[in-house]
Amino acid sequence: MAKFITLGIESSCDETGIGLYSEQDGLIAHQLFSQVEIHAEYGGVVPELASRDHIQRVLPLIKAVLKEANLQLTDIDGIAYTAGPGLAGALLVGSAVAKSLAWSLKIPALGVHHMEGHLLAPLLEAKQPKFPFVALLVSGGHTMLVDVKAIGQYKILGESLDDAVGEAFDKTAKILGLGYPGGPALATLAEQGVEGTFKFPRPMIDRPGLDFSFSGLKTFARNTFAKYPEQKADIAKAFEVASTQTLMIKCRRALVQTGYKTLVVAGGVSANTALRKELNTMGKKAKAEVFYPRQEFCTDNGAMIALAGHLRLVRGQTTSGNEIVINPRWSLEELQAV
Ligand code: KG4
Ligand code: ZN
Repeated sequence: MAKFITLGIESSCDETGIGLYSEQDGLIAHQLFSQVEIHAEYGGVVPELASRDHIQRVLPLIKAVLKEANLQLTDIDGIAYTAGPGLAGALLVGSAVAKSLAWSLKIPALGVHHMEGHLLAPLLEAKQPKFPFVALLVSGGHTMLVDVKAIGQYKILGESLDDAVGEAFDKTAKILGLGYPGGPALATLAEQGVEGTFKFPRPMIDRPGLDFSFSGLKTFARNTFAKYPEQKADIAKAFEVASTQTLMIKCRRALVQTGYKTLVVAGGVSANTALRKELNTMGKKAKAEVFYPRQEFCTDNGAMIALAGHLRLVRGQTTSGNEIVINPRWSLEELQAV
């Protein structure tokens, strides 16, 4: 097992990501192709264009990553691919390539849960969180708080009842005319905004429980923008402050509820500086340690899929059979323990 090398393939949405993870050396190479420019003119991801581009990128990217690591295809011992959740056509590309390669190389393949990939991404860093911990997963498709007892032992404590927080960032950015993908652009604009100019609500914080709701914030942004079209930066600021503080309040509540002293934050929105500041301050007060992936592994990437699959493949878990099976709607709670 010491030399076991896993190839990871991510193709659930609009980035093709490839990673190579070795039992001996950890992450050895990774590359990403982002389709942002392809979808930008449509203001959002066009699923069919996404699948077609994954088809063109995935094999050259695998070759490039192998070259970077100075390895051959035959050096790979297992293949991990994102099997869900995500766009069906996009998932099929990675799954079909993974299954066919594994079949031809006579090695095992394993379908990975995309959100488990995000959740475990902080384990790619030198300083790692210890189990159990609370995980806040904040991406374009999901917002959830998870009780993580161990790898594969997940209990969802709360999730968004409507828009995911990344989606709310993207939609608010679109309202403000910032284009796609709007999250990072909105965050940049918010830096120039004055806090307190507008006060947005903190949705659902006065209700017990750990669920979220972000669609109201987006509506609040739309109405404010209609009244004050000159004050885009202040609106961006108000939106960012309201959404990040809401996330912080729910994380604090989840830490109290579980009694855990470790918080892991992952997914695209965990790249947000204002959110990190808010959570770090809360963590200090609550005497909890907060962990994040490095910036490039917050958003979708192949390294996290290689790692998440590797941890299962080395323990003998595989997705058997030659059928190409994907799982576009897949709950974290359905996963097998490791
Ligand atoms: O995890 P991810 O790459 O893809 C999904 O699994 O959905 O997350 C993408 C989401 C997008 O909504 C994007 O706007 C948001 O993460 N995002 C950010 C930032 N960077 C990415 N949102 C706020 N601030 C950021 N710096
Ligand atoms: Zn993602």
